[in-house]
Amino acid sequence: MTEVLANYEDVLALDEEARKLLFTEARSANSFSDEPVTDEQLRAIFELTKWAPTAANTQPLRVLYVAKGEARDRLVEHMMGTNQAKTASAPAVAVLAADLSFHEHIPTVFPIRPEMKDSFEANPEGRTKHALFNATLQAGYFLLGVRAAGLAAGPMAGFDADGVDKEFFPEGRLRTILVVNIGRPGENPWFDRLPRLEYEQVVQHV
Ligand SMILES: Cc1cc2nc3c(=O)[nH]c(=O)nc-3n(C[C@H](O)[C@H](O)[C@H](O)COP(=O)(O)O)c2cc1C
Repeated sequence: MTEVLANYEDVLALDEEARKLLFTEARSANSFSDEPVTDEQLRAIFELTKWAPTAANTQPLRVLYVAKGEARDRLVEHMMGTNQAKTASAPAVAVLAADLSFHEHIPTVFPIRPEMKDSFEANPEGRTKHALFNATLQAGYFLLGVRAAGLAAGPMAGFDADGVDKEFFPEGRLRTILVVNIGRPGENPWFDRLPRLEYEQVVQHV
């Protein structure tokens, strides 16, 4: 049994500014300023996200950035309730999706076991589970990437996922898992910070 660590910061390698930016003061934004998000920033977010670990290095996450205008309007249609205004106003929006045919890349991304491509080919159900789990893990890294770019992320699952898939991925290969609004916080961007569960409620040692 370990003791509760009073000054946990003392054992971390990440400095205070970085801890605030990525974790302790990062918030899920509900409104955004008009300041544009550049293509370079969107690229930089991916360049960090791509280092996320995934099972057999399969990297099933796919990202669709949806620009303001006709494409954004089509996405907003599928957002639920108050999520519509958030996605309409964010300077940048990413649709995160899982590639159900991620296994096609296995000979390149996991050359030590290229035959895994064929096992996944023969197992569509296991492949879908693998894609959704690992893309979701990568989505967490994507949110950290947004924060590392000095931007706020507003992740949202409140949308008609089948509708988004039909709208943007009609060929059926990609399955939408999350919509992420991206930008600098606008007016009244946060709800009150909600409580987090404590160490003792979450962690066990055996
Ligand atoms: C998977 C996921 C789905 C979410 N769905 C929505 C949503 O549909 N609408 C919304 O306004 N916020 C949504 N949120 C935001 C959460 O409510 C928010 O991240 C959480 O309350 C913590 O807020 P904080 O980061 O500001 O502390 C979602 C967050 C995640 C990670």
